[in-house]
This record gives sequence, structure tokens and C-alpha cells, in this order.
Amino acid sequence: MNSVFKETWNYDKFKKAFYQKTGLNLDCYKDRQMERRIRQLMQRKKKPDFQQFFRYLADSSPAMEHFLNYLTINTSEFFRDEKVYDRLKEDIFPELLQNFPGTLTIWSAGCSVGAEPYTVALIFDTLGSLSRVRITATDMDDKVLETARKGQYDLKYLQKTPRKYIQRYFDKEGENYFLKEKIKKKVIFKSHNLLVDPPVSGCHLILCRNVFIYFKQETQEFILKRFSEVLKPEGILVIGSSEYISNPDEFKLYRRYNTIYQKA
Ligand SMILES: C[S@@+](CC[C@H](N)C(=O)[O-])C[C@H]1O[C@@H](n2cnc3c(N)ncnc32)[C@H](O)[C@@H]1O
Repeated sequence: MNSVFKETWNYDKFKKAFYQKTGLNLDCYKDRQMERRIRQLMQRKKKPDFQQFFRYLADSSPAMEHFLNYLTINTSEFFRDEKVYDRLKEDIFPELLQNFPGTLTIWSAGCSVGAEPYTVALIFDTLGSLSRVRITATDMDDKVLETARKGQYDLKYLQKTPRKYIQRYFDKEGENYFLKEKIKKKVIFKSHNLLVDPPVSGCHLILCRNVFIYFKQETQEFILKRFSEVLKPEGILVIGSSEYISNPDEFKLYRRYNTIYQKA
């Protein structure tokens, strides 16, 4: 007699199928957090189990695209964490300019809509040193990179931006703020997956903020190791304000200020 055995997928099975389909390894992310997030979306899409949810994604490219955007959580804004940017402007950037003659190579890794690398460019411009920097900004989400390249923002991205910067560097049209060309052309945006693609080499400054908070410890360490390899001695790594490196010396880093690290 043929018994029809209906297999239900657990999260592990979903992760495997998803990896085969997209090449994105969900194992790199914190399991509980990610599974909860995916289940929330499944509920909204009325997909009762992982197998049905997977079919739904596999059969529709808009659904898959939406899911990938949903996963990458790309909240960002200009001058996010004012204290950090104050510290960079007052101490760290002048020091980098002084310690390293010539062009500074800067990498904003996981740059989302571009607010972070553009904030860095704005600060260097106010220091009169925009011509001294080369800024590469990368993200694995092509949608946010599209927005970043446009340099067009609404006010929600500028809540923390001092008024003098808005007046000096943006043109307002209706509800939109357009970043001036001089700043826009200073940042090169590239599609890049931190877990797969080779890092930007010869960096004097790396910002990787609010990105690896979602990754498991091993994945964070893998990324930190790569950063350390491409960071020049005395180069600077800036992480997000709710992130922490528990063993910086393993990566030849030491803590300068809260979330600002320097390579030995
Ligand atoms: C919360 S945003 C942070 C944006 C910006 N760094 C900030 O702090 O305002 C996280 C970004 O990391 C990107 N990201 C996540 N995983 C990534 C990966 N493996 N490789 C490259 N970018 C990744 C996401 O697409 C998202 O845009």
C-alpha cells in the first residue's frame, strides 16, 4: 500500500533550498533573529510553511526580489550617530590626512542608500580635503545602490544632518533633496557581497556600520579578518554604535573610541 508521506520543511531545509537557488547563505546570519523575521513575512504573505514560501519565492522574481530587500534591512541616514561623526571630523580625519600624504582610500562596506559614504565626503569637503579622498561604497542590494547613485533623498534621511550641510550640499525640489554633483561624483558605488567578493585593498579607512550585527560570530570574525588584511597600519575601522568587537587584538586592532578602532 502506498502511503503518501507529506514532508514539512523546517528552517534548515528552507536555508538549504534557498542557498541552492540564490547562492545566499542564510547560515551566516543569526538563526533566531532571521527565522523570526522570515516567519513574520510568511504570515503576511499567507504562506503557512517554509516549503510553500520557498515555492512562492522560486516562482516569482518580484517576490524573490522583495524578499532579498526585506532580508538586507537597509535602514540608514546621513550623520547617523552624530557623536561618531563629530569624533571623525574633529580628530580622526585630520589625523589620517596628516599621517598619510597622498590619496586616502576609503571603503564604506554595506553602504545602503549612500548616506554613510556621502556623509564622509561632506565632512572631508568641509575640511577642505575632498580632493584627497577616494571613496568606494559597496552593498549587495542593487536596489539601494540605484538610490545611492541618484543622490536623491527625502527629509527622513536628513533628520540628523546639520542645517548648514543641507543648505550647502543639497538642492531642494518639492519634497526631494538632490545632492550636489561635486559630492556625488566623489563616491563610486559597486555591487559587492562581503561574504563572497574580494575586499577593497589598501584602505586607510573602512566604515562597516550596522551590517554585521545580523551575522553570526564566525561570520563577523571572517569579515573582520578580511578588513584587517586590507587595512593599512594605523588605518581606521568604524563599526556601528550597537556593535562590538570582543577580541580586537586578534585582528591587530585596538580601540580608539567607542566604536572606532585603529590597526596597530
Ligand atoms: C542597516 S544597513 C546599514 C547602512 C549604513 N552602513 C549605516 O549604518 O547607515 C545594512 C546594509 O548592509 C547590507 N548588507 C547586508 N549583508 C551584506 C553582505 N553580505 N554584503 C554586502 N552588504 C550587505 C544591506 O544590504 C544593507 O544595505
